[in-house]
Amino acid sequence: MSWEETLKVIPDGVQTLSKMPNKHVNRVYPKYIDRAKGAYVWADGKKYIDYPLGLGPVILGHGHEYVNRAIVDQLQDGIVYSLPSKKETELAVKICDIIPCAEKVRFVKTGSEATSAAVKIARAYTKREKVLCCGYHGWHDWFSIVNEKKDGIPTILGDLIEKFTYNDLDDFKSKLGDKHNCQIAAVIMEPYILEEPKDSFLHEIRSLCTEYGIVFILDEVVTAFRTKKFSAQAYYGVTPDLTAIGKAMGNGMPIGCVCGKAEIMDVLLGDCFVSSTFGGELASIAAALATIEYMETHSVIDKIWRMGDRLIESFKTITDSMGISDKVYLKGLPPRTFFVFPTVEHKALFWQECLYRGVLLGYAQFISYSHDLNVIDETITAMRGAMKIVRKHWDNPRQALKGDPQEETFRLPESKEKENGSKEDDNEAGATNRDGSSNSKSVAKPEHGIAKNTVSPDGGRPIKVPAKL
Ligand SMILES: Cc1ncc(COP(=O)(O)O)c(C=O)c1O
Repeated sequence: MSWEETLKVIPDGVQTLSKMPNKHVNRVYPKYIDRAKGAYVWADGKKYIDYPLGLGPVILGHGHEYVNRAIVDQLQDGIVYSLPSKKETELAVKICDIIPCAEKVRFVKTGSEATSAAVKIARAYTKREKVLCCGYHGWHDWFSIVNEKKDGIPTILGDLIEKFTYNDLDDFKSKLGDKHNCQIAAVIMEPYILEEPKDSFLHEIRSLCTEYGIVFILDEVVTAFRTKKFSAQAYYGVTPDLTAIGKAMGNGMPIGCVCGKAEIMDVLLGDCFVSSTFGGELASIAAALATIEYMETHSVIDKIWRMGDRLIESFKTITDSMGISDKVYLKGLPPRTFFVFPTVEHKALFWQECLYRGVLLGYAQFISYSHDLNVIDETITAMRGAMKIVRKHWDNPRQALKGDPQEETFRLPESKEKENGSKEDDNEAGATNRDGSSNSKSVAKPEHGIAKNTVSPDGGRPIKVPAKL
């Protein structure tokens, strides 16, 4: 089948913006993936180590046997009933066990549904309409209106939502308005993207929300199941009122949830409506139960962080040896990192050369439980070879490029440091080390080895409109 055939029947050829050819090195990257297993995918007959991992949902590894068995068993018993299954309660109890704010749970299929439901519940509870947001929360109208891709959305929705800057408490406070006549129903934010909260940012927001009667929602669509202790709220010790979860909950099966304080979730007993045919679909619920059980018994998150750390550190030894570690580095936390290069051409050449050496990269690099030492070391060998080519063509990377540089769907946020005049380029957010060794103000190392209160990112993830193919 040709890509032209696909384009005839599927807009842009994809179901998800991040899978478009122009988000990769077009004309070099494969257009389709044929199959996947563990840490690997196969495309055009070649095997690659997979780092985009389906854009984050694959936490144990592709086609993981333990989860597969649970799904197959459930298929035998049917997957959609007209009355609830007891497995829904079983999973809701599990979520309440592992997610600190969860007292009640409603299951949905996607992260966008989970965040949309959370905002709707917050509006119903507070009887207010405005929302403050920080990060990316999906494709639905209430949120998309603050981004650039907003055709088809009533402009009036723009009056109801405003972004604030990550780790900038003054910016946040300036958007709160009058405490005695507060119009804000919800604050929704990702707990971290590129760096960690500094100066108790999350805790400050938590207490301001309480003071103003605002529902505090953590969007843990990416961070839940990937952050130590199962969630960023448990890891940082800050309890929101509601949480949105998606991505990794079912190791790739389509399931997410909105969960939170019973008193707030109970608006669903009245006229706040969150309901869908597939909400209790059981192949995904069985997958989520199996995923959680496996994670609880196999130190999955610890291993993912160790392997992520190894990737970051080993990559740094490569760039150190070439004298370019101030220009090329991995940003983010171990379970999800982002490559920073001086220009998109340098980055594209690196992606191309990694692909030639059997490593498939994406906008964000995720780690799964199947990414063991061998996989990481194989990756590092490939990356060393790829970086040698980049170094060789440092002054003119385009010369060695066989395709088109990738367009970034969600440009990495600019950091406050940039405004303050630190090193950064126009394409990427600047150097901020997880261990706080540069650009950071206060660094406190907790026992688990991750620096807290390190550097400030601007947590927004503005959408850059791609040029049409
Ligand atoms: C933090 C966050 N929230 C929400 C979403 C939306 O999830 P979905 O694409 O499953 O609708 C995403 C997707 O990338 C996300 O990263």
